[in-house]
Amino acid sequence: MKNIVITGGAGFIGSHVVRLFVNKYPEYNIINLDKLTYAGNLANLKDIEDKPNYKFVKMDICDFEAFYQLMQDEKVDGIIHLAAESHVDRSIKDPFTFARTNVMGTLSLLQAAKLYWESLPEKYEGKRFYHISTDEVYGALEMTHPEGIEPPFTTTASSSEHHLAYGTEFFYETTKYNPHSPYSAAKASSDHFVRAYHDTYGMPTIVTNCSNNYGPYQFPEKLIPLFINNIRHRKPLPVYGKGENVRDWLYVEDHARAIDMIFHNGKIAETYNIGGFNEWKNIDLIKVMIKTVDRLLGNPEGSSEELITYVTDRAGHDLRYAIDSTKLQKELGWEPSLQFEEGIEKTVRWYLDNQEWMDNITSGEYEKYYDDMYRMNK
Ligand code: NAD
Ligand code: DAU
Repeated sequence: MKNIVITGGAGFIGSHVVRLFVNKYPEYNIINLDKLTYAGNLANLKDIEDKPNYKFVKMDICDFEAFYQLMQDEKVDGIIHLAAESHVDRSIKDPFTFARTNVMGTLSLLQAAKLYWESLPEKYEGKRFYHISTDEVYGALEMTHPEGIEPPFTTTASSSEHHLAYGTEFFYETTKYNPHSPYSAAKASSDHFVRAYHDTYGMPTIVTNCSNNYGPYQFPEKLIPLFINNIRHRKPLPVYGKGENVRDWLYVEDHARAIDMIFHNGKIAETYNIGGFNEWKNIDLIKVMIKTVDRLLGNPEGSSEELITYVTDRAGHDLRYAIDSTKLQKELGWEPSLQFEEGIEKTVRWYLDNQEWMDNITSGEYEKYYDDMYRMNK
């Protein structure tokens, strides 16, 4: 494969995937296709923007005609599709935008790719449509143990025998879809369309479902960058509900490495789960973040805990996510490279060292938006 479109490459995860591919594969032409919504930021890619194998195209994935033309002009062989509306809270306020981008946008890409690839003599030979999705499509897991043992407990239910879990159930590739938010419902729908294009037209597709990512360049509406920034500015830390919800955190570069492996060596029509075997209750994670930020800023350790403010819970807030990524580990030999303590230290340092990046975002419209969100939740 030579000509590869990465959609959503100006966003958080997309920018890490673009960087990895541009640096690792000088023989590929990497086309970053992004509409530059509020979440797209070309500053995320400053270090690679002048590389000869990189090109940025500003385009809406819903623009079928424009994308079909691009497929022909660039003779596109592979698509790695990350562009999406990605924030659950926004989906609760504005579900239509999520249906438009995540469902219709994905369908538009699929149909344009189909028409172009089917027009070629080799048809789908050597082509690939790789769709990046989320563990949220599976719904929420319980936090119980059949013998009444208090979580977290060590589990042997997965390939990672020593990992601490908050329940005995995990999301597997075979878990039935049960999305709860407009965001996850739209992502679920897009996953179904991708699989339908394989089953109906024979398109070589792959879908992956990943857990919560963290690391540099994440938009500060998401828990980790929002809280690091608020601690720096001595602003309240709005914890939804009691802070009891559990998420499974993965360092973003580990996700990008998995995407690289799966794009090149994954089996067509398969689904792979990607996760860190790294479950944290929000409130515990927040305390680790506070400790780290306080230490690095020279504040008395833990003193920023006074900023914790419990606010009204997110509507339909999923209790627990926990991915079982055994299939990916066994079949392709992938595993997370960073321990969480190392990853969170790296992440906090990055945000504190890159305050200009953060300030450029928070000084604009977004500041008003998240103030509104905060008032709404109080
Ligand atoms: P993000 O919000 O940081 O970035 C999304 C990018 O898509 C932005 O650059 C934005 O400009 C672009 N985009 C949005 N609408 C577009 C449109 N109509 N046309 C073209 N570009 C458009 O998102 P992220 O957190 O990097 O997530 C990327 C993908 O990974 C999403 O598909 C998301 O569902 C999935 N995912 C995210 C996580 C996570 O923890 N962040 C975990 C699992 C899966
Ligand atoms: O699981 C993968 C998903 O992870 C991705 O598909 C989504 O795109 C990504 O946004 C993320 O979804 P979450 O809703 O889990 O992430 P968020 O950072 O918004 O919230 C993490 C947890 O923290 C969640 O339980 C809600 C809580 N939270 C979040 C915010 C922004 C708070 O308590 N306070 C907050 O201000």
